[in-house]
Amino acid sequence: EKGGYQHFMIKEIYEQPKALKETISPRVNNKNEIVLDDIKLTKEDLEKINKVVIVACGTAYHAGLVGRYAIEKFAKIPVETDVASEFRYRDPFVDDRTLFIAVSQSGETADTLAALREAKEKGARVLAVTNVVGSRISREADDVFYTWAGPEIAVASTKAYTTQLVAMYLIALDMGLKKGTITKGKYDAVLNELKTFPEKAEKLLQDKQLLQELADKQFNNQNVFYIGRGIDDHVGREGSLKLKEISYIHSEAIAAGELKHGTIALIEEGTLVVALATQDHLYDKMLSNIKEVKARGAYVVAVAKEGNTEIEKSADIAIYIPNTLDELTPVLSVIPLQILAYYIAVARGCDVDKPKNLAKSVTVE
Ligand code: F6R
Repeated sequence: EKGGYQHFMIKEIYEQPKALKETISPRVNNKNEIVLDDIKLTKEDLEKINKVVIVACGTAYHAGLVGRYAIEKFAKIPVETDVASEFRYRDPFVDDRTLFIAVSQSGETADTLAALREAKEKGARVLAVTNVVGSRISREADDVFYTWAGPEIAVASTKAYTTQLVAMYLIALDMGLKKGTITKGKYDAVLNELKTFPEKAEKLLQDKQLLQELADKQFNNQNVFYIGRGIDDHVGREGSLKLKEISYIHSEAIAAGELKHGTIALIEEGTLVVALATQDHLYDKMLSNIKEVKARGAYVVAVAKEGNTEIEKSADIAIYIPNTLDELTPVLSVIPLQILAYYIAVARGCDVDKPKNLAKSVTVE
């Protein structure tokens, strides 16, 4: 059932090209139009919406952070992203002009479901992004986007996350085109690029050796830090969650610009820092952040776009992702982080697919 893989997690990491393809292909027709069958939001509906609220837990929340970026960028609607267990208890401002997006792989997470009900009660239109047909969240939502990732067995979410990212991009692009906040040229460019992702993910998955060797050297760390700016910070959070949940190493992700406001105090000789530097407009800033942590003795693993090799002068190791549009990097940059977390957990002898204290679907609060 694991198809020759040692664990479901690594099998599912390797299923990402297929999961991406199955999530993207049925949604784009031969005229490059996005077809979202289970989403009935019309142009008129969209015109009424003045705010989007994305709510989720854990990994799905991290997809929601990228969703905020994509919707603000392409559809020019203000977006808030919140964790479900916070959202529902803060008497959030939601009304009938709010589009509420619940992101949930299982579609059964108790807090996400409760938040959805709260938003619905306040009059919001509810869209669910989920991987499970017929799940509670899908049934209670007005509109649904199914991530066709296929069943995800490992507790640590991988292919569900990358397909959730794709869902957010497709929803944002579609909204942008309908609202006229994105040009057709830009829309085509982003969509065409997205269509290359199954292939690019496949390419990325071919060289895991560097990551495996890195894991074999770095598995004994007490603390790991992930730093990045903008969407790189969102991906860093996901990388950090992956590592801590399966390897039990304490890890933390912070916005790189926040380092000197506290966290840099914890960097010492040999501390592992994973620095994401995929964004052109933030690249120089990231190089300075890398130098700051290096100066305190950190061992830096940088993730950058291929070709940006000057990063090798500051980082100890560079991991490259295939070249792509800066807006879309999370779908690719998370993959090496998943693989690194996996091999570190394996090197530590952890029960990767069933980490202690965790359940695949959290149906209690
Ligand atoms: C982490 C992980 C969890 C889930 C979270 C939400 O790898 O799997 O953080 O993402 O429990 O679950 P869903 O998406 O089913 O609502």
